[in-house]
Amino acid sequence: MNTGPPFSLPRMTAMVAWSQAFLREVLSSGDIAVDLTAGAGRDTLFLWRQVAPEGKILTFDIQEESLARTRALLDQADVPIHWLTPNNSALPAAGVYAVAACHSRLEDFLPAPPRAVIANLGFLPGGNSAVITRSETTIRALEASGRVLCRGGRLAVVAYPGHSGGREEEREVAAWFGGLPAATWSVLKLAAVNRPDAPTVLVAERRQ
Ligand SMILES: C[S@@+](CC[C@H](N)C(=O)[O-])C[C@H]1O[C@@H](n2cnc3c(N)ncnc32)[C@H](O)[C@@H]1O
Repeated sequence: MNTGPPFSLPRMTAMVAWSQAFLREVLSSGDIAVDLTAGAGRDTLFLWRQVAPEGKILTFDIQEESLARTRALLDQADVPIHWLTPNNSALPAAGVYAVAACHSRLEDFLPAPPRAVIANLGFLPGGNSAVITRSETTIRALEASGRVLCRGGRLAVVAYPGHSGGREEEREVAAWFGGLPAATWSVLKLAAVNRPDAPTVLVAERRQ
């Protein structure tokens, strides 16, 4: 008989919910975490709720519209939000720090190793579908995440093969995860294998 605490799993093919569930397990109040793609702010808000009230979230996006939507969502939820520039990268207070820069520049802004990094690739839903994440900068952001993540920390990516360029990006991202050395990383891929255009989740944990 299972005597542990009650828990519920995400709906089977709800990939964003799975990516969040993998990170929830390792996050607690006071941690630092990173959202590589702020978008409409939902992953950022999720991360904040895991690390509040003492933690810090860095959230990156190259589109003003995305950061404005993220800000609106955070304001609605009364989350403290600050703006970060390379010359002002100290994080004095708890809250969310928005960064208007490419996620490949992660290391220019991070004050200390994060416990979790999330990325939801592709384009902003309801926004300009021509602005998409690109393999070259996505892989650079993943490499930077791999260098900075603390021991026991996790990196979760949702990749979308269904849009133009998305399949190549998903393939390159999966290859990057697959190349992480098994001695220091545990890696998992979740895919709806009977739906080739459906999003996939890749998760890596740096071993203790
Ligand atoms: C699918 S949306 C993210 C959804 C978001 N995580 C959420 O919870 O609402 C992808 C976002 O990635 C952003 N993006 C694309 N290339 C980027 C880059 N090089 N650096 C940072 N953000 C980027 C896009 O502007 C877009 O807002």
